[in-house]
Amino acid sequence: MSQLDLFITGIGRLVTPIGQQARRGRDMGDVFEITDAAIAVHEGRIVAIGKEVELQQKLEGRSINRTLDAAGKMVTPGLIDPHTHLVHGGSREHELALKRSGVPYLDILAQGGGILSTVRKTREASEEQLYNQAKQSLDEMLLQGVTTIEAKSGYGLDLETELKQLRVAQRLQAAHPIDLVSTFMGAHAVPVEYAGRTDEFVQVIIENMLPVIAAEKLAEFCDVFCEHGVFSVEQSRRILEAGKRYGLKSKIHADEIVALGGAELAGEIQAISAEHLLAATDQGLAAMSKSGVIPVVLPGTSFNLGLTKHARARDMIDNFALPVALSTDYNPGSCPTESIQLIIMLASLNLNMSPEEILTACTLNAAAAIGRESSIGSIEIGKHADLTVWNAPNLAYLPYHFGINHTFGVIKRGRTVVWDRQLVHRVEDAK
Ligand code: NIG
Ligand code: FE
Repeated sequence: MSQLDLFITGIGRLVTPIGQQARRGRDMGDVFEITDAAIAVHEGRIVAIGKEVELQQKLEGRSINRTLDAAGKMVTPGLIDPHTHLVHGGSREHELALKRSGVPYLDILAQGGGILSTVRKTREASEEQLYNQAKQSLDEMLLQGVTTIEAKSGYGLDLETELKQLRVAQRLQAAHPIDLVSTFMGAHAVPVEYAGRTDEFVQVIIENMLPVIAAEKLAEFCDVFCEHGVFSVEQSRRILEAGKRYGLKSKIHADEIVALGGAELAGEIQAISAEHLLAATDQGLAAMSKSGVIPVVLPGTSFNLGLTKHARARDMIDNFALPVALSTDYNPGSCPTESIQLIIMLASLNLNMSPEEILTACTLNAAAAIGRESSIGSIEIGKHADLTVWNAPNLAYLPYHFGINHTFGVIKRGRTVVWDRQLVHRVEDAK
């Protein structure tokens, strides 16, 4: 009889969306659930799932290397955070008081602060400093139950620093249990040296940065901050089309503050995802729906910016049949938190999403937003054994009991990396 690496028993409740593609609209609420379950894992992948008693019989006689008792706890797919600005220098706590006194986010940027202040700190930082700061954030994410993230550059705005950020992400991908998917976001802001010359900076991105990043295979996606006073729809289109020519799939920070038409552009160029979307129009959402663009909704950002307006997640699900994904948008300005569980709470309270929809948005749909829906995002035979074990009796408990960490354990590709709320991996273990 063949061998089995791992047999996870005692799963009180197993909950997962099902499928190899994003679930749209009302289908987001349709999750598969079994009690008293078990999961068999071999070479990092799920090979069997079912009621424990039935699986025990089925696997009779197979030699099992390791058994893990989930002690009656709930298990879901590992959470996926598909939009982070993980690698950056410094922090911007001084901006909180400014924002509280009423200075708008885009005004802080226009005055040379905001993103541009993190650009200064990221340019100054050594690669080691950036690595250590980002690694600490990844550990926080892992403890929260996150097993894969997307990480953007965009605090360099010059080739050298953009490469430095992307190399840090590449090194962390090799060393940390969390899997990282990289996005080049040279078009995050216009650097001071190109102030008033945005078109020239767009040319620099297209001619000097994109070819090098693509040749060094440092990113899979290209992203643009399409916003009033930052990059126009036309400039965003030029950058994303150029990215495509170099094999980079498109993402777009769209219609966050002003309804510029970023959502329409996402539909037109068949971007994989469009993010934020607080101000997106019905036409924009319809264009996205037609092209199957994933709206990545970031309720932590609207919360932290003190906005009363939120992305229309209910409308996206009920009226546009869109496959909504959720993310932290972890960054030092508009959303300084690694906590996906805070996002789960905000998605419930501010976006009115159901616990089942939230699970789908944080797993399968998040996987699709980073092009990984065939290998992660659900507990199914053939997918990676990326699992989160919860100190919570059911899904509804997660947004209900807020402000604490409910994660008990994390399994990454069949390896226990968090148990009893403690990190058990060492960086030296590598992948
Ligand atoms: O997604 N909107 C633009 N970019 C980030 C914020 C980055 C920052 O403030 O440092 C975002 O919210
Ligand atoms: Fe962002």
